[in-house]
Amino acid sequence: MHFTYGLAALAGLAQAWPATSKHSLAPRSTSFFDSETGFTFSETKAAATLSSSIIYRIAQPSNVQYGQPYDVVIQVVAPNSLGWVGLAWGGSMVRNPLTVAYPNGQRPTVSSRWATGHYTPGQYSGATYTPLSTGNRSNGTHWQYTVKCTGCTTWSNNFGGITWVDPNGGKRFGFAASASRVSNPSSTSATIPVHDVYNYISHSFSGGANQDFDALLARNGVSSTAEAGNTSKKL
Ligand code: HEM
Repeated sequence: MHFTYGLAALAGLAQAWPATSKHSLAPRSTSFFDSETGFTFSETKAAATLSSSIIYRIAQPSNVQYGQPYDVVIQVVAPNSLGWVGLAWGGSMVRNPLTVAYPNGQRPTVSSRWATGHYTPGQYSGATYTPLSTGNRSNGTHWQYTVKCTGCTTWSNNFGGITWVDPNGGKRFGFAASASRVSNPSSTSATIPVHDVYNYISHSFSGGANQDFDALLARNGVSSTAEAGNTSKKL
């Protein structure tokens, strides 16, 4: 009797115990359908302060394998309290494409940067950003941009090789933000003040694959880049 009770108690304990003891944070992202642009994005929220978040969304063509060039559409929603927000594609500040943006009336400015050290990043010509005809705005609480990026998902790394961002996997990105505003926000080369906060997000691309990526770009007034989603062409 005691033995049976003991087993039942143990089974109960096992049920109550957390299912996994793994402490690593798996990439988490949700899928977000944006009816305005028609793109389906993977989405991760990054805490900017204790009470506000930056929403990072990424959409990619569905027919791309790891090691092939591809464009992405990036959509970011930031609270008005932030004067700039940035995404570091390689997961740290130094030597990878930095997507930096700041509010600028109804169309935020997105600026391509690259840092060679922990100081003000310079312009980076390896990535280009094209605003979509929709999805760029600001209102009383937030500002939002939606752009195509060519060059965000691959770059020459420190070791003389090429880094690829896997369109079918998860990725640790770095992000940074500041409450301070840039003084000439219509310029892509504006001087940005140092961040108040930086941290990391684990983003899964799985929810952001779009079969009709090129057609959706066209619907939003942007032409597709020759390489994007073209499985036969390598860098
Ligand atoms: C005026 C411009 C900037 C300055 C002066 C600056 C400076 C710095 C410094 C000094 C650190 C090291 C902090 C520490 O060790 O505690 C750092 C870290 C970091 N910064 Fe910046 N930064 C700037 C812009 C950016 C931008 C645009 C991004 C884009 C996302 C960024 C992302 C990060 C990240 C993710 C870290 C964490 C450490 C790392 O991964 O390297 N920073 N920054």
